[in-house]
Amino acid sequence: MQAAPPEPVTLTLDINRERRTVTVDARTTLLDLLRETLGLTGTKKGCDHGQCGACTVLADGRRINACLSLAAMHDGGSVVTIEGLAIDARNLHPLQAAFVAHDAFQCGYCTPGQICSAAGMLDELAAGAPSLVTDPGCAMAVATDAEIRERMSGNLCRCSAYPNIVAAIREVADTPVADDSHTALDDADAGPRAEPAGPAMPAAAAPGHPTGGAA
Ligand code: FES
Ligand code: FES
Repeated sequence: MQAAPPEPVTLTLDINRERRTVTVDARTTLLDLLRETLGLTGTKKGCDHGQCGACTVLADGRRINACLSLAAMHDGGSVVTIEGLAIDARNLHPLQAAFVAHDAFQCGYCTPGQICSAAGMLDELAAGAPSLVTDPGCAMAVATDAEIRERMSGNLCRCSAYPNIVAAIREVADTPVADDSHTALDDADAGPRAEPAGPAMPAAAAPGHPTGGAA
């Protein structure tokens, strides 16, 4: 006898600071919820197996592979995708601007995941989380190229734009945060508004459009 399909589940999440309520199959991944149900196709599906990082988003401020996470696990939580990093089209997130300035992409398929992962990674770095290559004698890891490569090693780029990606991330890491700087991610970290509210880059990489958007 064939097992009956699971009952649909109704979930409420803050997606890019907007409260959304959806009813989906309980087996739906967060990636499919974003792309197929909500039409947020900036987050890409590469391997669908947790191996490429193309689907990286920020869930409750931490980077995750959306293909490996059930949407139901995020009921009541917040998710920021590449579409939600910037305040608007004229105020890019610093990482988006740096990727453009450093030409840190070719086909752009991995780029949304790279940028979301870098945003989460810089927060981890600022919080003092060590990596495999952090000198145990150092109180705080600094954003050297080796640190960036190690911490971004879960985000693969088939166009091999790695040198430019590292340069873009390092520029943001090295830039002091201005008092009046403000990004959509800051809002997400601060929690919901009144109403609504990884993986790695090869250590040795060869030289290297979109900082979001649909596909
Ligand atoms: S699509 Fe999720 S890690 Fe590749
Ligand atoms: S820019 Fe093409 S896969 Fe990274």
